[in-house]
Amino acid sequence: MPLVAIAHGEQVREGQPFGVRIAGQDLVLCRVEGEIYALDGVCPHVGGPLAHGALHGRMLVCPWHAWEFDCVTGEHDRHPACRLRTYPVTQSDGQVWVTLD
Ligand code: FES
Repeated sequence: MPLVAIAHGEQVREGQPFGVRIAGQDLVLCRVEGEIYALDGVCPHVGGPLAHGALHGRMLVCPWHAWEFDCVTGEHDRHPACRLRTYPVTQSDGQVWVTLD
């Protein structure tokens, strides 16, 4: 599994989803209480761009129809079986690294 540097840590701010496109895949990074989480950036409903949504605490809100996902677990707030894929994140030397498939 490749470990990929995808952002500088200071680019990912509390309350502001940060979108990244890497290897043809859209991801969204969310910082919650200092920790950074990486998730699929495309909403499983009908494809809303989650990087353009809102981040309320640890809940990522889709900009199209307001589905909400826990950015720590990826779970939909009312239907836990519906979830965004999450990716392991590490921070080193100011960089954000994500482990992709
Ligand atoms: S596309 Fe995300 S809630 Fe509809």
